[in-house]
Amino acid sequence: MEVVKVEHVSRVFGEVMAVNDLTLTLNAGEVMGFLGTNGAGKTTTIKMLLGLIKPTEGTVSVMGGDPSDPQARARIGYMPEIAYYYPYLNARELLDFYGGICGLDKKTIRSRADVLLEKVGLADAAKRPLKTYSKGMLQRAGIAQALLNDPDLLVLDEPFTGLDPLARIHFRELMKELRAAGKSIFFSSHELGETELLCDKVAIMKKGHCFYQGPVKQLTGEGEKNLERLFLDVLEKGEVK
Ligand SMILES: Nc1ncnc2c1ncn2[C@@H]1O[C@H](COP(=O)(O)OP(=O)(O)OP(=O)(O)O)[C@@H](O)[C@H]1O
Ligand SMILES: [Mg+2]
Repeated sequence: MEVVKVEHVSRVFGEVMAVNDLTLTLNAGEVMGFLGTNGAGKTTTIKMLLGLIKPTEGTVSVMGGDPSDPQARARIGYMPEIAYYYPYLNARELLDFYGGICGLDKKTIRSRADVLLEKVGLADAAKRPLKTYSKGMLQRAGIAQALLNDPDLLVLDEPFTGLDPLARIHFRELMKELRAAGKSIFFSSHELGETELLCDKVAIMKKGHCFYQGPVKQLTGEGEKNLERLFLDVLEKGEVK
C-alpha cells in the first residue's frame, strides 16, 4: 500500500518555485530520507503532506486520502522543523493538549505519555515548563508529541537536529523499532550518516528539483559508493554517476 503519493507536485511562493514537479512514493513499512540543500523545498513538501499548505499544481495523497482529511490525519504523527509550543506548559501538559486534539481519552494519554517521556529521556523534566528546556530537550518533547497517537505514518522534519549523540542513538533505535512494527517513516535530514543507517530509500532535492530517488542499500552495497558520495555527485554535478 502507498502511504504517501506525491504526483507532479509544484509549489510557488511569489517568484520562488519552492517545489518543482516532484513525484515520489512511500510504501507501507518503508523509511524514506528526504535530503537536500537549505531551501531545497523539503519543509514545503512536508507541509503539503500534512495539508498545511496546498500544492500549486499536482496531487498529494496520504494514507490513501487527502492530507486535510481528519481520518488520514489521525493516523499521522508529525514533528515540525521548528515547534512553537506554548512556553508555560510542561511536557506532560503538552502531551495532554495534543492527545486531546487527537481525540484520545485521558487514560490512554496518561499511559502513552509515561512510556514516551521515559523513552525520550524527559521523565525527570516532565513537570518543568517548556520555556526552561534546552534545544535538544524541546526536540525530544517534539518526538514524544509526534508518537503520542501511535501513528502508522511518521512525518518528521529534521528530527536529529539538536540531539546529543546519546539521544541520537536512542532515537535511531526507536525509529528502527517503529519500522520493525510496520510503521512508515518519512523524514527530512542533513545528517547523511543517520540517513544511511536508517533508510530504505532516499530522495535528494536541490532548488525545488528532485535529483535522485532510490534505495540506499544498492548504493552502499558496492562498498565504494556511500550516501555522502552520492549526495556530492548529485548536487555538485547535477547527475548521478
Ligand atoms: N511561506 C513562504 N513564503 C515565501 N517563500 C517561502 C515560504 N516557505 C518557503 N519559502 C521558500 O521556498 C524555498 C524552499 O523552502 P523550504 O523551507 O521548503 O526549504 P528546506 O529544504 O526545508 O530548507 P532547510 O534545509 O533550510 O530547512 C526557499 O527558497 C524558501 O525561501
Ligand atoms: Mg526545512
